[in-house]
Amino acid sequence: MIKITIIPGDGIGKEVMNAATHVLDSLELNLDYIYASAGYECFQKTGSTIPDETIKLTKKTSATLFGAVTTVPGHKSAIISLRKELDLYANIRPVKSYPGINSLFKDLDFVIIRENSEGLYSGLEDYTREGAVARRVITRRASERISRFAFDYAKKTGRKKVTAVHKANVLKKTDGVFKDSFYKVGEEYPDLEKEDFYVDATAMYFLTKPQIFDVLVTTNLFGDILSDEGAGLVGGLGLIPSANIGDKQGLFEPVHGSAPDIEGKGIANPVAMLLSTSMMLKYLKMEYEAENLEKAISAVLKNGKVVTPDLGGNYSTMDMAREVSKQIKIQ
Ligand code: NAI
Ligand code: MG
Repeated sequence: MIKITIIPGDGIGKEVMNAATHVLDSLELNLDYIYASAGYECFQKTGSTIPDETIKLTKKTSATLFGAVTTVPGHKSAIISLRKELDLYANIRPVKSYPGINSLFKDLDFVIIRENSEGLYSGLEDYTREGAVARRVITRRASERISRFAFDYAKKTGRKKVTAVHKANVLKKTDGVFKDSFYKVGEEYPDLEKEDFYVDATAMYFLTKPQIFDVLVTTNLFGDILSDEGAGLVGGLGLIPSANIGDKQGLFEPVHGSAPDIEGKGIANPVAMLLSTSMMLKYLKMEYEAENLEKAISAVLKNGKVVTPDLGGNYSTMDMAREVSKQIKIQ
């Protein structure tokens, strides 16, 4: 049995997680789910948004599925704590068009790899007499590590090109280190094409010719912004999965939050969670099952009938999950 940690969280996090376990069950895998809590409800019960038991469990199991949590103002974020504790330094966000979705582009298939551990999100912010200042930490170690991760990812998934995104013309020192690290590590991958773009130009190319991209690697803040722009290109929050990967652990979560506006109605789109689940199966080396799951989701989207209101249908989260399970059986 492979043990995985399941953290449903709050609001629609719990609802889409029910959909995920339903679909996982139908794949009949040797998985043992161990539930753990985090988030707002957990805070109300235990006084902590992310109890030590939860962190310990995620370290012991082979992978973690995370729904979504409601932020508790003034308290540490469960997901950011997990990324730190487990040293999940790479955030992978695929930008992929699925037929049947009403989106800006119908032909995209690229991946953004965001450095998840430093940059402007290092938490080094201080008030000064004039206002405030944040420090942008870019180390050679983290830049080489994320570049290597991106090249390995490209190689493993049969992709051809890796693009580094930075702003080294202005941030000469920090992004100079990032860019140099990228090309230095790149020498170890002679078969892959390498290029680099400024982040502002990249933001424009996303809108004018996003088809040119294959794998992108970038620093924390740029990756955060570009990946939401990427989500916008292919249909929005209900569809976008993500993986947080470290050397020892992997955590898989939809990009969306707990959506209090639709909580309890049973109408959350489960696709982002289900695609995150497929990414987890790939990470656990169950490539065949991962692909089967993605194909089933794709078929349900293409058919376009049994879908949630955000996709123009009037079916529920669990209706859609059952439809995906049915597709898995047919395939
Ligand atoms: P949100 O992603 O929860 O919702 C934004 C909008 O998208 C809402 O109108 C919502 O109904 C819709 N939406 C999101 N996911 C959907 C789905 N699967 N199906 C259909 N519609 C969907 O972001 P918001 O409202 O800014 O944040 C709500 C709470 O979630 C906050 O407490 C926020 O801090 C937290 N949050 C947590 C995240 C996490 O756990 N990783 C990520 C983002 C936000
Ligand atoms: Mg973001």
